[in-house]
Amino acid sequence: MSEAPAPMPGASASERARERAMAIPVEPPPSLRQIATLQQEVRMLASERDALILAHNYERPEIQDVADRTGDSFALSREAAASEHQVIVFCGVHFMAETAAILAQDRTVLIPDIDAGCSLAETITAQQLRAWKAAHPGAIVVMYVNTTAAVKAEADYCCTSSNAAAVVEHIFEEHGPDVEVLFGPDRWLGTFVRRRTGRGLQLWDGECHVHGAIGFSELAQLREAHPQAELMIHPECRCIPDVTQLLAEGGPLAARHHVLSTGGMLEHARRSDAPQLIVATEIGMLHPLRKHSPGKQLIPARQDALCQHMKLITLPKLRDALRDLRPQVQVPTEIAARARRPLERMLAIS
Ligand code: 13P
Ligand code: SF4
Repeated sequence: MSEAPAPMPGASASERARERAMAIPVEPPPSLRQIATLQQEVRMLASERDALILAHNYERPEIQDVADRTGDSFALSREAAASEHQVIVFCGVHFMAETAAILAQDRTVLIPDIDAGCSLAETITAQQLRAWKAAHPGAIVVMYVNTTAAVKAEADYCCTSSNAAAVVEHIFEEHGPDVEVLFGPDRWLGTFVRRRTGRGLQLWDGECHVHGAIGFSELAQLREAHPQAELMIHPECRCIPDVTQLLAEGGPLAARHHVLSTGGMLEHARRSDAPQLIVATEIGMLHPLRKHSPGKQLIPARQDALCQHMKLITLPKLRDALRDLRPQVQVPTEIAARARRPLERMLAIS
């Protein structure tokens, strides 16, 4: 039987998505006085509109500070699903707002800038996923939440960086050790889950332009310069194969390395006794870490690890979104119904 080769165009899509992201201009922050005025306007409009403001940990500090809740993708999905507010304003990127719209069906979901996308989500389309599935009949599909609703609609399970290993383990427990699993679109998260669970996974070859630039050599240099520091590493980073290899070897050096979601980093920083933390993720993460763990010295793995998409959300845009109730994020009913299933399965597992 001849089988079509699996199409894996994620790497070239990653390159194009990186170029698009790098071309997005990043606005400078407003003055402290402007911030105070805008935040006041935002809070007044939020209460008039019965709106819940959610902000991802990578958002600008002044956005995180005015939000009702901040967190990682998973925590924010849960907040959206549980919320009873009429309006949810998602200060994050488009796939996160779409996830909220799928889980909170009867609510109005706003995103202050509709162009806030995700270079990783751009690396796989629904059509490409259908072709990949066709080349692997019977396989179970796990898609990271960093995907469009149309891609989620083709998946059996979703996962986030905080629960990917648990989701994959659940699938093997349900379907037996021989089940074939397609995992995407992030190849580094996939590599991490493969090594963490010891399970064979077929991986899509996408990556995020921010985390794909964080390699092992810069971490090793920082680690040597700061011998007492612990390292907190997001599983989307390009250094993941070397880090997982180190973790498998064990010992005191391995014990300093922790692979964590952004929410996991906040928890870890709170508990850790280390005086310094090397932070391998998007630079916006330093703000919640400073707030939650004020005594720690935070050392970013790269000063230029900046997600231009996340920084598109500004206070004037948030104020305008609340005032005008747009841009709204709407997912077509049929896509939403199919995308809800893998999301709800994920929420039930973790
Ligand atoms: P977290 O779920 O860890 O917050 O990650 C989301 C993301 O987009 C990472 O780049
Ligand atoms: Fe997407 Fe990367 Fe930005 Fe996260 S940091 S939202 S994965 S582009």
